Amino acid sequence: MKVFKLAILCGLGVCLFSFTGKLIEQINGYENDDRVAVVLEQLGAPQGLHFIKELDSVKVRMGKELVLNGRTVSPSGKLTKRQSRYFVCTDCHNVVQEDPNLMKPNPEARLKYAEINGIPFLQGTTLYGAVNRKHWYNDDYLIKYGQLVAPTRDTLVNAVQLCATTCSQGRSFTNWELDAVMHYLNSIGLKMGDLNLTNKEKQMVINGAGTDESKDVARLLESKYFQESHATFLDPISSIERELGSNGDVQSGAMIYKNSCLHCHKDGGVTNFKLSNAKLDFQFLRKHLLVDGNKSVYHISRKGTYMKNGYRPYMPNYTKERLSHQQLEDLVAFINLQSSK
Ligand code: HEC
Ligand code: HEC
Repeated sequence: MKVFKLAILCGLGVCLFSFTGKLIEQINGYENDDRVAVVLEQLGAPQGLHFIKELDSVKVRMGKELVLNGRTVSPSGKLTKRQSRYFVCTDCHNVVQEDPNLMKPNPEARLKYAEINGIPFLQGTTLYGAVNRKHWYNDDYLIKYGQLVAPTRDTLVNAVQLCATTCSQGRSFTNWELDAVMHYLNSIGLKMGDLNLTNKEKQMVINGAGTDESKDVARLLESKYFQESHATFLDPISSIERELGSNGDVQSGAMIYKNSCLHCHKDGGVTNFKLSNAKLDFQFLRKHLLVDGNKSVYHISRKGTYMKNGYRPYMPNYTKERLSHQQLEDLVAFINLQSSK
């Protein structure tokens, strides 16, 4: 029956899907992979200082190497000094879409999406679409770090440099490196196809340019995705309130362990503190559940760790928006199960 209906629609020339389920439509005038920022600019909506209209593919590639590997080959042919000895940006940030619904990012949906798409589930917000946000380092980052993050709130290049030096514990990018990173970040800005516009909305975009309505249409586009990534710091659940996994979902816990903890704690990860799927590792974590120090997953996931002199890797905390209390209970349920197997 469904196939039959599709066939009729296709016959009428409005077939939206190929039979493999892949979107093949074009947004007349706009392609699905056109950048939202460019369309917004055409609609007359001012873009931030970081906006680059014409991308240079060589710079995009160099910027990508800097973000993924921490180094690249400079325009004069020299391999650059590593940006950080300890981290690369992708230890803490994805560079692809991570929220299935861009209007309502939340950690439950993000975890399932990460599992399905085989991407990590991390403390930092994805850099995909970072150029489309209006503010960076929001809410509790501003409250806690004040002057340090104030210059980054409205200016993406400052946010990048701050994370390079502070989160990554490395050096600032040089001017040409920063230029390359910005070309790359613009290239991983949101695409029109990501916004899931209805046909009516697409028509509004096409008709809106150059008319009195263009501002409203720009606002409509902006309502389709989050403008800033919110951040609420939570205190660790107190030791008397910990459910110790009794209401936890083991499957969800397994996804967190695999897509989040092991991303950094597996062999070859950023820290010397290794975790694996060995029973002993789970027994170690279980033994410390009620403790308040760094060895307790309840404590460390909310507080993170601080860098020590001479050994810089540290663990960033998870905000409420990146890991819920319930998910933490799910993780504990998984730890319990694995340690008693
Ligand atoms: C050790 C972990 C870590 C590393 C490494 C790291 N970051 Fe971050 N970054 C964070 C956290 C945590 C935040 C806090 C805000 C958020 O992303 O939700 C953040 C914030 C940001 C933001 C602002 C995001 C927003 O929407 O508020 C940008 C941009 C950024 N980082 C870029 C980078 C770049 C570029 C690199 C590599 C040079 C990098 N970061 C390396 C952890 C890290
Ligand atoms: C972005 C990377 C990253 C992620 C993701 C991460 N960690 Fe960590 N973690 C670290 C680093 C770095 C340290 C510091 C280790 C050290 O001092 O050697 C650390 C320390 C720890 C410690 C303390 C070890 C000690 O004895 O002090 C525990 C326990 C821990 N992590 C558990 C977890 C769990 C559980 C998860 C998943 C919910 C997780 N980590 C996710 C990077 C990460």
